[in-house]
Amino acid sequence: MKLSRPLIALAWSLLVFAPLVQAGNPTPRAVSNAPDGAFVVKPYLQIGRTPAPDTLQLLWHAPDTDTDTDADWSVEHRAAADRPWGKADTLDFVPVAVAGIEPHRVYRAALTGLVPGGSFAYRVLKGGEAVFSAEARAPKRADQPFRFVAFGDCGAGTPEQKPLAHRAYLSKPDLAVIPGDMVYEYGLISEYREKFWPVYNAESPTESGSPLLRSVPFVAAPGNHDTEIRDLDKYPDALAYYLVWDQPLNGPLGEEGGPFVPSLKGSEANQRAFTKAAGKAYPRMTNFSFNYGNAHWTIVDSNPYVDWTDAKLKEWVAADLASAKDATWRFVAFHHPGFNSANEHIEQQHMRLLAPILEAGKVDIVFSGHVHNYQRSFPLRFEPLKQGTLMVGGRDRKTVRGRVVPGRWTLDQSFDGKTDTSPEGVIYIVTGAGGQKLYNPEQNDDPDSWQKFTDKFVSNAHSLTVADVDGKTLTIRQLTAEGKEVDRFVVTK
Ligand SMILES: [Fe+2]
Repeated sequence: MKLSRPLIALAWSLLVFAPLVQAGNPTPRAVSNAPDGAFVVKPYLQIGRTPAPDTLQLLWHAPDTDTDTDADWSVEHRAAADRPWGKADTLDFVPVAVAGIEPHRVYRAALTGLVPGGSFAYRVLKGGEAVFSAEARAPKRADQPFRFVAFGDCGAGTPEQKPLAHRAYLSKPDLAVIPGDMVYEYGLISEYREKFWPVYNAESPTESGSPLLRSVPFVAAPGNHDTEIRDLDKYPDALAYYLVWDQPLNGPLGEEGGPFVPSLKGSEANQRAFTKAAGKAYPRMTNFSFNYGNAHWTIVDSNPYVDWTDAKLKEWVAADLASAKDATWRFVAFHHPGFNSANEHIEQQHMRLLAPILEAGKVDIVFSGHVHNYQRSFPLRFEPLKQGTLMVGGRDRKTVRGRVVPGRWTLDQSFDGKTDTSPEGVIYIVTGAGGQKLYNPEQNDDPDSWQKFTDKFVSNAHSLTVADVDGKTLTIRQLTAEGKEVDRFVVTK
């Protein structure tokens, strides 16, 4: 281990506590004839509460007006141009009336009976008139190859975010996974409107954004900028994560003030407005799992407010991975990387506590963000030394910032992803260069500053992960916005 820089960074971080929040390939063609004001947020696809290869959820946000009724809206879809349109099974909405943003409704329609892996068209009608239409692809079955992209720390409103979104679109993914920090700075509904929807659900593909969300389901893990803000008096439209994403609720149910759900703060009225709009998504939707193709995905909340020494939480992850025995691949996504070589955030090692469970659960790849660059570890096994040292800070000197977790690890340095494609251990990827300002570009050409567990480190360009899963072969590429390949490796079973 190279200890000098990390120790300096660690000492610095312990002295000067940082603030809680730091700074199959559809060819989407979309037509939107929406009259002005029909949508606040245009339709976007989600995997929903109970993902399946023949189902997707379509969500959109519309103004909450006295004149609008449920019956005004309908959704239709069809598998081919010569097929009749079929109506969406269910269509309902949740009113969102939190302070700080105009009242609106989050609509959701279930698109069911889709042909797994097949293309389909859909349209949203209002008052009997089609106001939005697009094409998409149904989720893949276990016997169908698929492609996903992953990039975190994205909705920053930077110039670099947009061409990378365009590269994601050009990559023609079936699925997109964001390992946290979807929008900056505080996870607000208003910030999604400024920095997320316009970039990932643009009308046409340009360097300023792309029509991805209407054709590709996105899945998200909660980052610190998404769910750490709990003061609803200061930020009444915060915690948008629970309001705009539609994901499974099959994780453990936590209690406010318990080991993995911090208490809400703010007036009773603001708290009630939020919990009413969030429904069952709050507080459950931060740890969940689903299957896509022949892969099992486990998404967990790595925010420092979560106590990963908690038995209930650890048992859930272990049981979830054990239940995925039929899956060929096991992928995990969470925001804070346990194994990070960048000087930035190097002290936040609390997710290392999960390593033995991930190894026992035969996880192939872990995707994280938080650190705004790209890193790939050697396949590794890690044995934490006890539970590490808790770091607390903040104004109240009680805010948990994470843990420093020393331990013993075994690296598979013979794995090169080319001639040796059978890793011994878990590969940890940091793909946090999705838009926010890059961290530690000075380390790009300074391998001596990397930890021994790091095999690849790219901090001089924004990039995204493009992964192809084809039976027992997984090919992962890391691409810049220009399409330059900065890493590539293959894993076989
Ligand atoms: Fe982060």
